[in-house]
Amino acid sequence: MTEMLVRSPAPLPATLGDYAEQAAERWSPSVHAFFDGGAGDEHTLRANHEAWQRLALWPRVLGDLRGGNTATRIAGRPVAHPIFLAPVALQRLAHPEGELASALAAAAQSAGYILSTQSSVPMETVARAVLGDPGHGPLWFQLYWQPERAHNLALLRRAETAGFEALVLTVDAPVQGARDAERRHPLRLPAGVSAVHLADLPPPGTPPPADTYCAGLPAQAPGWDDVAWLRAESRLPIWLKGVLHPADARQAAQAGVAGLIVSNHGGRTLDTVPPTAQALPRIAEAVGDALPLLVDGGIRRGTDVLKALALGAHGVLVGRPVAHALAVAGAPGVAHMIRLLRDELEMAMALTGCRGVQEATPALLGY
Ligand SMILES: Cc1cc2nc3c(=O)[nH]c(=O)nc-3n(C[C@H](O)[C@H](O)[C@H](O)COP(=O)(O)O)c2cc1C
Repeated sequence: MTEMLVRSPAPLPATLGDYAEQAAERWSPSVHAFFDGGAGDEHTLRANHEAWQRLALWPRVLGDLRGGNTATRIAGRPVAHPIFLAPVALQRLAHPEGELASALAAAAQSAGYILSTQSSVPMETVARAVLGDPGHGPLWFQLYWQPERAHNLALLRRAETAGFEALVLTVDAPVQGARDAERRHPLRLPAGVSAVHLADLPPPGTPPPADTYCAGLPAQAPGWDDVAWLRAESRLPIWLKGVLHPADARQAAQAGVAGLIVSNHGGRTLDTVPPTAQALPRIAEAVGDALPLLVDGGIRRGTDVLKALALGAHGVLVGRPVAHALAVAGAPGVAHMIRLLRDELEMAMALTGCRGVQEATPALLGY
């Protein structure tokens, strides 16, 4: 009886969607726009989700599932499961502990972790915490190209010294997309929250005078020659994040990068580009075994992860769910979110007759 009189607390999240709903209830319009908004009319943002949902799984029955598990290798490194947390900027907007909390959660769940250039916690703090957990997954640093090569070098050397295992160069955002929700609800960073790595860099030189958009910022975007330079300078393997076109994927293989992340930046840069579930099989076909592939964009269910593996990905990244789970429950929330996704993956594997992630092939999708 008393139970009926007391307002019940928010239910325990049972899915990544539950975390998204509960986070949205807590956020101001500007923080909500920053974390959940997409570019333009958000066609690609929606299509990312829908494309995974539209693919049907064709289960096999009565197979021997004994000894089944999610263990695999990403570019030769053993991992307990194929789930990574994507680089997401300014996570202290979602929780006071920001990237430190999400990275600790990833380490506790043996998930891969990619720290953004625009992290609100220094990379050395994050690396120390992750590397202190013997079961941690891959720890990578994401680089947004800086106009001066010296500044890229400074970030690279810091990442190498701190103990990051790979560098991820994001190539799909030479300029910011038209993020209308953020223009309607501009974000003012609270005191004490900033992109700390960029604050440490010396101020960039004066950009060349420009009277058109194309003559301005895009002139400072990275090119293939910069990828070659980065490779030559780096002791870490270089991944490219944000490749959608098979021709770029082939060129990347020739450029000697370590792997590709098939991504449209979660629908945040250019609207109406294809959903990643559509781009992934074309890229897998283009590169064959030459490069390992990861994919992100709209992955919210274990069935989405299994479909990505079936289409040729070696692993997946989740982006917004990190911010959702952080906002709702900090590090334990992120750890729970990863566990939910992994449990769903294991259920989907068992229910389709896959004993290991290598058994996820296009046959699982009916062709
Ligand atoms: C709020 C937010 C900030 C992001 N910041 C970065 C970033 O700093 N660097 C980067 O390469 N990608 C960034 N991304 C893109 C993610 O790494 C990832 O590609 C995308 O979120 C995946 O889609 P999903 O959110 O549907 O899982 C960001 C995405 C969001 C939502």
